[in-house]
Amino acid sequence: MSFHTIEQAPARLNRSELAVPGSQPQLFEKAAKSDVDVIFLDLEDAVAPDDKEQARKNIIEALNDIDWGTKSMSIRINGLDTHYMYRDVVDIVEQAGERLDLIMIPKVGTAADVYAIDMLVTQIEDARGYKKRIGFEHIIETALGMQNVNEIAGASARNESLHFGVADYAASTRARTTIIGGVNPDYAVLTDPSDDGARDVHWGDMWHYALARMVVAARANGLRPIDGPFGDFSDPDGYRAAAKRAAVLGCEGKWAIHPSQIELANEVMSPSEAEVDRAQRIIKAMQEAAAAGKGAVSLDGRLIDYASIRQAEVLVEKAAQIAAA
Ligand code: GLV
Ligand code: MG
Repeated sequence: MSFHTIEQAPARLNRSELAVPGSQPQLFEKAAKSDVDVIFLDLEDAVAPDDKEQARKNIIEALNDIDWGTKSMSIRINGLDTHYMYRDVVDIVEQAGERLDLIMIPKVGTAADVYAIDMLVTQIEDARGYKKRIGFEHIIETALGMQNVNEIAGASARNESLHFGVADYAASTRARTTIIGGVNPDYAVLTDPSDDGARDVHWGDMWHYALARMVVAARANGLRPIDGPFGDFSDPDGYRAAAKRAAVLGCEGKWAIHPSQIELANEVMSPSEAEVDRAQRIIKAMQEAAAAGKGAVSLDGRLIDYASIRQAEVLVEKAAQIAAA
């Protein structure tokens, strides 16, 4: 290990994160009763300019009056390039900051963007005497944000998670895509011809690089990497496949832009019983090996070492967190 210690963000269950437009308060109660881990009440792209002010009011009222249970509550503020942002932060943190766990910063581009919001939030928290500190979630969704992802990830002690915003990222990089989070058949490889000349087309995952890069920046700074939206909510199989790819790369959660996607995210992002069972057996086998003075042992015919035990511990810890939720 490096001498450099990585501070881990507060352990927060974040398998699913539901987007709820702040301009549609009729959706709030249902969201509060859902099985989602985190809810972000949106002030940004799901809210038309004329509705921004009312959405802010709706959110303040809802944070104070609705019983959100143990869910983590977030607001997605408007971008730093808009004049809405300062009032999003000032009004909501001043008037409902005690029930707010997180602020989601969209289209973050540089570490200075994070610094600016940190300064504002710190002043309001101090002035109000809030005991709890609000955490930050950053959407990496522009070429600039991706270029500076490492600095952004390390820019504030409030940082908790990085989110891959595939829709805006596609727009910013001018990627060729039509469905949010979907893939493009042009991103494919052709197999060599077989004896009869036939060739197969294998579709590739055009988001692999971006997601993997964001995962590394998040983990190197102790943050949760979270995969963003999958637009076609009538395609649960497509959603599941995207969530699984993200989970395989190290993501802990995925957005739900429709309530039907919550269960899919929770299912993919929770370890299975078999995985938890195996992790517990790894920990037990390693404890027995350590007691016998052995460094590496095998379990079910496979080598397990200290890297395996760290993975197993993470998994068992996650299962305990889920059980306690
Ligand atoms: C999310 O905000 C996205 O742009 O995908
Ligand atoms: Mg976006």
